[in-house]
Amino acid sequence: MSSLPAVPQHPLQQLLWWIAQPLSYLDTWSSRYGDCFVARLGEYNNFVILSHPDAIAQLFAADPSQFEVGKANRLLRPTLGDNSVLLLDGDRHRQQRQLLMPPFHGERMKTYGQLICETTQHVAQQWQLEQPFNTRAAMQAISLQVILKAVFGLTDNGRCQTLQALLQRLLTYTTSRLWFGLAFFPWLHRDLGAWSPWGRFLRMRQQIDDLIYAEICDRRQQFFQGSDILSLLLAARDESGTAMTDRELRDELMTLLIAGHETTATALTWALYWLHRYPQTKARLQVELASLGDSPDPIAISRLPYLNAVCSETLRIYPVAFIAAPRVTQIALKIGGHRFEAGTYLIPCIYLTHHREDLFPNSFEFRPERFLERQFTAAEFLPFGGSNRRCIGAAFALFEMKLVLATLLRNHSLALVDSSPVAPVRRGVTIAPKGGVPMVKLNGFSGLPVPE
Ligand code: HEM
Repeated sequence: MSSLPAVPQHPLQQLLWWIAQPLSYLDTWSSRYGDCFVARLGEYNNFVILSHPDAIAQLFAADPSQFEVGKANRLLRPTLGDNSVLLLDGDRHRQQRQLLMPPFHGERMKTYGQLICETTQHVAQQWQLEQPFNTRAAMQAISLQVILKAVFGLTDNGRCQTLQALLQRLLTYTTSRLWFGLAFFPWLHRDLGAWSPWGRFLRMRQQIDDLIYAEICDRRQQFFQGSDILSLLLAARDESGTAMTDRELRDELMTLLIAGHETTATALTWALYWLHRYPQTKARLQVELASLGDSPDPIAISRLPYLNAVCSETLRIYPVAFIAAPRVTQIALKIGGHRFEAGTYLIPCIYLTHHREDLFPNSFEFRPERFLERQFTAAEFLPFGGSNRRCIGAAFALFEMKLVLATLLRNHSLALVDSSPVAPVRRGVTIAPKGGVPMVKLNGFSGLPVPE
């Protein structure tokens, strides 16, 4: 590790740069030091940024018990809680994943197809002709309604609607750069009243918690067994036959609600931006969509190759999660030809890997065709991370992205309000398009092109 290049700046200076402009930080130092270098971010003084696919493949293939990940995600603890799958390690982590994976895969996932298409139409019908709307806010309304339905089974009762409004407010607050900076300084986490930054957060969180606990309590009393995720968690028992406590349920529900919509909304916003910035790409996609006829089945839509390539390219160029979760070594080990001491933070850098010129030539060019021309390995294209921490909702997110895009392109004519390039900016732990991409709905949608 001592032989690795380290960014030669004061740790506080590095931390502030990382908070304010993480992609510029990564571009600057990777162009100087290549695909493995040490960052010192405040008190985290041994962050190793990895972007060589061989090193990442080795890291993903290593025995997971050699790393701690949950503890390194501690910035998420105030919102998600100690029992979130994102903060767990070892057996408890494995058990929670086994429980949470099935609803987001296979047949269970497919049952959400109709809901996704209908929710998209419902939101799009509220856009007034020629009146700008914020694409990110609109995509968030869609993805939040979809995940609320998946998690609780119901979206049309008052509690769900209040929860939706409160979650949107909490996310607007906690994804600001100011808030993200605050998360790095635990001594600032003090409740100094409703107007103090931390006090405001605690009050918002309490309102959300009250609603979630009320729903858990009602559902325990009703003995209602639906196909939603809360029903599944209520029925789950661990190896000793013990059910999850209210606190554990709350933390897992909050994790799914937040991780399950925020990222997808950003990815959809980017996709709409790219499609309307490059009309030939959109036209090619519309021809492909038209080939499915008048009322295509959601599964058929999800299998379209060009639509898949558009979603992949969107997730490649500005990956919503620009790094995977840090893997903290528990013992000394060798990865990518380097030896690391116990306690080192190994960071698979999704953004830098996706911009390797040897894998993705002209990497800042949006070109979905690259995904039709060759296949990439799980360590070359990794928008959902990898190994035992790979995103639980990856298949669900892609399914949702495809159906939302297909529904919008098949039924509406949209345009960007401003044709200038949109910059990526930090939004909490993710990267999102600056300004949320204002768009307008145009009059006179004449349908998809007639297939030849
Ligand atoms: C475009 C949308 C999404 C992107 C780009 C994304 C990306 C990621 C990434 C990069 C990770 C960390 C993986 C690692 O460290 O190796 C992750 C973890 C996770 N994601 Fe997603 N995600 C998305 C959507 C979703 C959805 C829809 C859900 C839930 C329904 C979800 C739930 C989770 C959970 C629970 C974890 C933690 C897994 C663990 O620690 O074992 N995500 N996601």
